Amino acid sequence: MGFGRGKVILFGEHAVVHGYPAIAAGIERGVHASATGAEEDIAEFDPWNLRLCPGANAEEPLARALAAILSLYPGRPRLHIRANVELPAGAGLGCSAAIGVAILRAIDEVLGRSRSDREIAADALRWEKVFHGNPSGVDNAVSAAGGVARYTKEDGLIPIHLGAPIHLVVGNSEEPSSTKETVASVARQYERNRQRVTKNFEAIDSIVRNAVLALQECDPVALGQLMDMNHMILSSLMLSTPKLEAMCKAAREAGALGAKLTGGGGGGCMIAIAANASQAETVRAALGESAFVTKVASSAGAIDTEAS
Ligand code: PMV
Repeated sequence: MGFGRGKVILFGEHAVVHGYPAIAAGIERGVHASATGAEEDIAEFDPWNLRLCPGANAEEPLARALAAILSLYPGRPRLHIRANVELPAGAGLGCSAAIGVAILRAIDEVLGRSRSDREIAADALRWEKVFHGNPSGVDNAVSAAGGVARYTKEDGLIPIHLGAPIHLVVGNSEEPSSTKETVASVARQYERNRQRVTKNFEAIDSIVRNAVLALQECDPVALGQLMDMNHMILSSLMLSTPKLEAMCKAAREAGALGAKLTGGGGGGCMIAIAANASQAETVRAALGESAFVTKVASSAGAIDTEAS
């Protein structure tokens, strides 16, 4: 069985596409995949009830991504791949990267290969490129490695040692969002008004630097303030929606120390930080049925997600 983690971006989404740092954390929810020998290549995705032949469904991005991954294994047997997806798709939780990582690990397992997280992440980037024109690589890297880390395109992941776990709540606006489109929209704004957008990215850069310290020093109050600031900048880049604004406000009113959209934006998920587990529960209750609490800690093994 191969596993790819979902992720939340704590700080720095979008700026990371342009070379600035972001901070991301793996969450316990993700994608489990298995691969077995078969007469023809086939992939099944649950709970979506989706069955694809990578050769035959070329108009489906998922089938094209699958074909891109299968071509990395010359001389392999035909495979029946089954993926169980625990993440909402297109919601900013790194669903597509987690599927890619899980399938690569499942194929490696059936072929008796053993590779590092870094090698898996590199191959998963080819998969990601089918879905997003210009991925930064943060989703596939965190999906493979887990933990909490600073990420830049140049340096990759640098793990952050947390003073203590942080209590996050993830809320889903249920509005469909396309990371490809929001990344393209920010790129257009950057082309049109380079000075303004560069200022935004530099502000995000300084938020990330302060957030690394706040994570190491275990200062959830500072983290909350930094989340609010990061969210304001993302809103000014037109990445928020009235629903995401209402959810961030509801989270703060329920006691969250700060809240922001996470991932591509334009819909999808938001996150809020709470001082402790019981406050996180109160915030979760304010964010609707599909919200869940995630306790994020330094190492992959310590991450613990409690479903609502
Ligand atoms: O929406 P997601 O989960 O794919 O996260 C995207 C994060 C971005 O910074 C917006 C894009 C990227 O490639 O880093």
